[in-house]
Amino acid sequence: MSTRALLVTSSVLGENGQSIALANHFESRAAARDSVTVTKRDVVANALPHLDIAELGAWQTPADKRSDEQKALAAQSDNLLEELRASDVLVIAVPMYNLGIPSQLKAWFDRVLRAGETFRYTENGPKGLIEGKRAIILAARGGMYAGTEMDSQTPHLKSMLGLMGITDVEVVYAEGLNMGEAQRDAALKEAFQAIDQLVEAL
Ligand SMILES: Cc1cc2nc3c(=O)[nH]c(=O)nc-3n(C[C@H](O)[C@H](O)[C@H](O)COP(=O)(O)O)c2cc1C
Repeated sequence: MSTRALLVTSSVLGENGQSIALANHFESRAAARDSVTVTKRDVVANALPHLDIAELGAWQTPADKRSDEQKALAAQSDNLLEELRASDVLVIAVPMYNLGIPSQLKAWFDRVLRAGETFRYTENGPKGLIEGKRAIILAARGGMYAGTEMDSQTPHLKSMLGLMGITDVEVVYAEGLNMGEAQRDAALKEAFQAIDQLVEAL
């Protein structure tokens, strides 16, 4: 049985991005395995606007009652949801920008975190509706934050994934990438090895 990976990239530096180097490594290792297929989603090259009231209104309007503008707005999210649902493993390559995720990646999450589609509100709080999916986060950072209170990025990503019901989440960190060549090379080497192991296990 094949494993379908959705590889989301979010660096503003395009192919020069260090998180893209992690994503490219994942992709090339996955390509070496017949049983893994990779679909790519670059949320910077295909940047979405901020979520606004018009788009929320489109979601809340029954499909057969939507205006042409609302149909186009709802399609943005519908298409991304379809892409997400069609995957077994969600791989997110994410740079740390100003202690958080790139706003383009937040805009993607704003489209796939949709009440009634990927989670629903219950008397006991929100319940994720995505089942049987796991996620891998490939985190590139200039400094060192993993496991410290200042790392508000990975917990945020895990919370957003958890809201949808994706609770099986592995994180590969490449940290200290702007702390000298030796640190950068060592961090990338370690991250590539971790990715090799994760791809082997897919
Ligand atoms: C606008 C901007 C903000 C950044 N903010 C942080 C930060 O808060 N913490 C950190 O460790 N690195 C920060 N960095 C460094 C990046 O995380 C690092 O260069 C990483 O490799 C970026 O991934 P990318 O090359 O795929 O874009 C920042 C870089 C940029 C361009």
